[in-house]
Amino acid sequence: MSNPFEPPLLKPDSPEICKVVFQPSGQSGKVKAGLSLLDAARSLGVGIESICGGAGTCGKCQVIIEEGRFAKYDLTSSADHVSSADQDERSICARRGLSNGVRLSCLAHVKGDLLVTVPEEAQANRQVVRKAATERVIQVDPIIRMALLTLDPPILGDRSDQERILALLESRFGLKAPTFELTALKSLPAALREGHGEVSLTIWNDQAVIRVQAGLHDTPLGLAVDIGSTSLAAYLCDLHSGALLATTSAMNPQVTYGDDIMSRISYAVETPNGRERLHRAVIHAINELAAQATAQANAAAEDIVDCVLVGNSVMHHLALGLDPAQLGHLPFAPVAGGAVDANARDLGLKFNPGARVHVLPLEAGYVGADNVGVILAEEPHKQDDIVLIVDVGTNGEILLGNRERLLCASSPTGPAFEGAQITHGMRAAPGAIERVRIDPHTLEVAIKVIGQEHWSVELPDEQIQARGICGSGILEAVAELFMAGLVQPSGKFNSKRNSPRLIRGPKGQPAFVLATAEQSVTGSPIVLTQGDVRSVQLAKAALYVGAQLLMKERGVQQVDRIVLAGAFGSLIDRQRAMIIGMIPDCPLDRVIAVGNAAGDGARIALLNKSSRTEAAQVARWTEHITAPLETEFQEQFVAALPFPHASHPFPNVQRMIAERREAARSGELFSQGEAENDQ
Ligand code: FES
Repeated sequence: MSNPFEPPLLKPDSPEICKVVFQPSGQSGKVKAGLSLLDAARSLGVGIESICGGAGTCGKCQVIIEEGRFAKYDLTSSADHVSSADQDERSICARRGLSNGVRLSCLAHVKGDLLVTVPEEAQANRQVVRKAATERVIQVDPIIRMALLTLDPPILGDRSDQERILALLESRFGLKAPTFELTALKSLPAALREGHGEVSLTIWNDQAVIRVQAGLHDTPLGLAVDIGSTSLAAYLCDLHSGALLATTSAMNPQVTYGDDIMSRISYAVETPNGRERLHRAVIHAINELAAQATAQANAAAEDIVDCVLVGNSVMHHLALGLDPAQLGHLPFAPVAGGAVDANARDLGLKFNPGARVHVLPLEAGYVGADNVGVILAEEPHKQDDIVLIVDVGTNGEILLGNRERLLCASSPTGPAFEGAQITHGMRAAPGAIERVRIDPHTLEVAIKVIGQEHWSVELPDEQIQARGICGSGILEAVAELFMAGLVQPSGKFNSKRNSPRLIRGPKGQPAFVLATAEQSVTGSPIVLTQGDVRSVQLAKAALYVGAQLLMKERGVQQVDRIVLAGAFGSLIDRQRAMIIGMIPDCPLDRVIAVGNAAGDGARIALLNKSSRTEAAQVARWTEHITAPLETEFQEQFVAALPFPHASHPFPNVQRMIAERREAARSGELFSQGEAENDQ
């Protein structure tokens, strides 16, 4: 058999040259008669699955030969234009349950012109579309590959099973002496016995055999995890197809030891075993998320063979068990800034015993691997437009620039937008209020709760079952209170607005009732207090000043596009984010919300190995800007606390508020609010 990695040499004027067109890609060319269709496809750059290396045993390299005259391609294709299926091919097709009419491209040899369809399940290097406001195609080319091998029973004088496998890996796949995980070697004899000599190998980066299974297995699983200071999000992916199989999320259990990154560092440094406790807490949470996600996908955590982690610098250090002490003081030097590859079991992750973990690099002391994930997902470094990306989390991170120069900064936002330190805050889970509308005319309130399709005004109270407020609900509530005049630009509640929902909260401070006792699961009203509004002011001012800092450094007065990212549950409401002054004023059509871009970036790195190299390069290239500590910065922060800002003009916001009041007067408000939900 020819080496599958070397395209055959063609003589264009040879009489044995045949024209072959592959669908659906439409790639075509002339190939030499006698070549296998698999080799023909490779020579033309068409990817066809093959996990047995063309040995005719995996049944993955399926193609369909089209019959008839195809004027579009100026050829006549026929099943007779390939060698006929022999007994071996028929039996492997029967064994793998392949339908009649399907040929195995490694066993079908070209005899004449052909139009060949590669069914979707046989297409290698497939693409998946990242579903977000900005759709992005991810080329599926993971660091994990599968290889199916068949070993004859050993005879006297034969080499070891391992050596015979290594010889097959070199001859079939061109792999030079990959190592074997001990756990994989241990399972080899039983797998060979059970598979009657047929075993599937899971290979990491063409360098290490990390798992051996009996028979055919071709759907290795990977887990991408965004470790936020307050919440974790995990994405379980099929590394073969790129499909997202399950998404799970949880609060970061480290919250028990401190709400923000500085308090976590203090706990890690000052408490005996503190660092180990924080490490174990987050690893335990990732194990739980993996167990939930694999259960949803009818799989087992043992099937996870690769994992990508992202998180801010402190989360990164604690997940790896590294000492975060230096991140707590100038010059904020991390222990490790580059990408880290580790064995999952060394971190305590209960995946497959041979599973690997890749942690994306950090950009700077306080701009972490999560921000590198955002860059992979949003690709500001490949664009001409100047883009401002605001990743809203407990430790907010901001990017500004384009392909010429990209700047980043971190912003101590606090956990308000993740539902923590808010009186009735909670993570985005069933029962959380995720959307809020307040009629500025009648002060009527409509809420939408996760798990309910309808707004509260369309449901009887007892069906609403509100439990608390998640990040997107908190942001919307504050913006709506401000637009309705219930909260003044200073952030103080306006007692002159006459509403029965303006009450004294649990600790006697002014509060606004978002869900009444009848609408809540607890039987007590769900409120937003004066302190909650203040937390939102501090958070939004930190982000706004951070953006201003980068714009000044980059020498721009305005940006071409603003991207709002964050693990909010529903997409962050771009209009309301601007109304409270979280982002600079600009036409609304220049603002997009993309959901958890850091998590999307982790998923991209999981599915595409070359994106890991790109991440390493861009992390080094992005310039980190540190906020000056002098008075001017403090003054800017204080000026950014009011809604939308003490002195900066916000003409687009003023117009939006005026339009909203008009809509309220004409009674169209709640229908408008629902439409806005589909931004
Ligand atoms: Fe495995 Fe053809 S490549 S059967």
